[in-house]
Amino acid sequence: MRAIQQAAWGEAEPLQLVEVEAPEPAFGEVLVRVSAAGVNPVDVYTRRGQAYNRVLDLPFINGWDVAGAVVQTGYGVSRFRPGDLVFGMPWFPREAGGYAEYVAAPARHFARMPAGLSFNEAAALPLAGLTAWQMLTEVAAIAPGKRVLVAGAAGGVGHLAVQIAKARGAQVIGTASAAKHDFVRALGADEVIDYTTTDVSAAVRDVDVVIQMFGGEAGLKALNCLRPGGLLVSGQAAWTPGLHERAAELGVRAVVFLVDPDGAGLDALAGLVTQQRLKVHVDAVYPLAEVAKAHDHVAGGRTTGKIVLTVGEPE
Ligand SMILES: NC(=O)c1ccc[n+]([C@@H]2O[C@H](COP(=O)([O-])OP(=O)(O)OC[C@H]3O[C@@H](n4cnc5c(N)ncnc54)[C@H](OP(=O)(O)O)[C@@H]3O)[C@@H](O)[C@H]2O)c1
Repeated sequence: MRAIQQAAWGEAEPLQLVEVEAPEPAFGEVLVRVSAAGVNPVDVYTRRGQAYNRVLDLPFINGWDVAGAVVQTGYGVSRFRPGDLVFGMPWFPREAGGYAEYVAAPARHFARMPAGLSFNEAAALPLAGLTAWQMLTEVAAIAPGKRVLVAGAAGGVGHLAVQIAKARGAQVIGTASAAKHDFVRALGADEVIDYTTTDVSAAVRDVDVVIQMFGGEAGLKALNCLRPGGLLVSGQAAWTPGLHERAAELGVRAVVFLVDPDGAGLDALAGLVTQQRLKVHVDAVYPLAEVAKAHDHVAGGRTTGKIVLTVGEPE
């Protein structure tokens, strides 16, 4: 099969299009012919050897988000049959080999694609969507009337988090640069703040929950936006030293979050898509061979929504 493999950690040049053996599905696994693969910031950190590589070996096939068709089922799989269209974020944070024509992984790491979603859209959804879903529903238990601040509301995670929080009845404040305010409002945000010109930690007060996708000083200052006892869920806690100490000083809570594979969460996302309460925005699509351009795009940090690679036949 064709795959993008890297034999060294580093910049985008080591991402090479190669022919390798397709994987075989083990007991409980499905083999998926991949039509499209999503690209996430963690792919870039991983390519550079900055994250999770303690469990990853070279040569390495990057990528976790995939959408395609089941072509083979391992012993004991009852959830899917060959021909079913599925999407998922298998194996994360271990190697999934998503930038390849075939992926084998536990059936429960996938869900059926909702009708009406293209492969590109379905491949854009799993990692960012599960992050938003798990943060908001499992960690923060968002309920109607809660006030939520979504930092980075125009990005991959943020644009889905705004919509999921609204679907759960929350009041949503998003941060984005001014050019993206119309986009964030169209997602349903009640208020949008330009974090490039406004000190968010001074402008927003007494929210119940902060979904914080950025670290450093901004990640710490976001704690000031919470009501006493409020909860910040951090997607970048490793880059936010002192988070728990500052939270304790302020009388608020902070949770370190890492997304994990979750077929039930994917089913929930698919349900929201079917009900037309969740739309994934694909900013740009690159062919598999142009993966380096896709990585540069994501590494630029200005994506609106998601970046996707086409792997199989173009749609
Ligand atoms: N822990 C986890 O499980 C987990 C899961 C998913 C993602 N993450 C992490 O969360 C971060 C965001 O992921 P993503 O997929 O949403 O990334 P993304 O799609 O690349 O985010 C790009 C967006 O972020 C906005 N942005 C950049 N810096 C910002 C800042 N300081 N404040 C507010 N907005 C800012 C940009 O908006 P403007 O152009 O308007 O600046 C852009 O729209 C990444 O670092 C990623 O690794 C963690």
